[in-house]
Amino acid sequence: MGLLIKNAVIVNPDKIAAKPQDILCVDGKINKIAAGIAAENHDVVDAKGKKILPGFIDMHVHLRQPGREDKETIETGSRAAAKGGFTSIFCMPNTQPVIDNAMVVEFIIREAKRAGLCNVYPVGAISKGQHDQELTDMAELKEAGCLAISDDGKSVLNSRLFRLAMEYAKMLDLLVIEHCQDPLLSAGGVMNEGEVSTRLGLKGDPAIAETVIVARDIEIARYLDARVHLAHMSLERSVELIRWAKVQGIKVTAEACPHHFALTDEACASFETGTKVNPPLRSKEDIEAIKAGIADGTIDCIVTDHAPHTKEDKELGFDDAPFGLIGLETALGLVIKELVKPGIIDLPKMVDRMSTSPARVTGLKNKGTIKEGFDADLVIIDEHKEWTVTTAGFVSKSKNSPFVGWKLVGEAQLTVCGGNVVFRAA
Ligand code: DOR
Ligand code: ZN
Repeated sequence: MGLLIKNAVIVNPDKIAAKPQDILCVDGKINKIAAGIAAENHDVVDAKGKKILPGFIDMHVHLRQPGREDKETIETGSRAAAKGGFTSIFCMPNTQPVIDNAMVVEFIIREAKRAGLCNVYPVGAISKGQHDQELTDMAELKEAGCLAISDDGKSVLNSRLFRLAMEYAKMLDLLVIEHCQDPLLSAGGVMNEGEVSTRLGLKGDPAIAETVIVARDIEIARYLDARVHLAHMSLERSVELIRWAKVQGIKVTAEACPHHFALTDEACASFETGTKVNPPLRSKEDIEAIKAGIADGTIDCIVTDHAPHTKEDKELGFDDAPFGLIGLETALGLVIKELVKPGIIDLPKMVDRMSTSPARVTGLKNKGTIKEGFDADLVIIDEHKEWTVTTAGFVSKSKNSPFVGWKLVGEAQLTVCGGNVVFRAA
């Protein structure tokens, strides 16, 4: 007995299907796509009037377990993912302890399986303890199940170490994900350096803190003919550098977050710590460049950088509160509101940036497209649904979002992971 989804209009990265079809899922796979599949003894879901997309894949999530289960756990983060339409998430290594050995990787995979709501892929650390001094045992991390490595939360500032990491990762076919922010240049910065930070009297984090690492990493990737993936790009200049590198044939891919195209640094004038994030919110020109980069493919993937923090932590003053905001439950609504409705991208391109490209970049086979034989990871959406973000509506353990009160467009109605319904809208 399987799951039969009736009357769904399939959206893939190349097109929106002309007519509704049925999708039969058996043993975690898409078994058959056709019109009028007989119900037999399958569980039936009617998707009439709705679109069905490959489940979203978020390459950049912070789950906080192990170590800060008061902020998020693998289970609560997976639930937030399912509600947002995500069926696969990559969790960053800045946990306590750091994901720098097989035991932590195996623990996360085990917990994720127990929760059974979402595929969770731990990202191993590049340096032991994320101390930027000694490489982790990448072969061990890969063997334990890592597809990617990163010291996310901070850059690998040590260029020699980064070069070695890129060489080993190339041999092991691991994806290197870099958080681009020179900590010496950004030291003490709590928001974007510019006119707004000057006006507010807050210490600025300059654009060059991001772009010097972007430029360095592109150059190392070129030198080694190795691939690098640049996390949460926030600047016009970063987009220009990546666009140039791609034209040269350098193996660089990149991602951007909804908050970096939905908000400018003017949002920090509220002194609302929900707007304090790394990299910081930038200028109007940067927003336009990020949108253009997403539209033309310079930015391959849209990710959330879901970074849960407790109310107590975020109630500190702007200088002292931690960086980060939650994003899994607002991503789809922000992407449709800010990019799809204004005509910057269409739904197939949204599928590419949120499902197909993340699957390609991370090397996930059989995901990111709705196709017979592929994994039954699917999301039914209502792209016209208007809804208002509320604190009470979040299923994430943390509620730190600058979008509370915003009216968004587009919502996941039903999420299917491995052929199982993992979320159903009320
Ligand atoms: O704002 C952020 N929060 N950026 C990061 O890179 C790390 C993250 C976190 O772990 O809280
Ligand atoms: Zn980061």
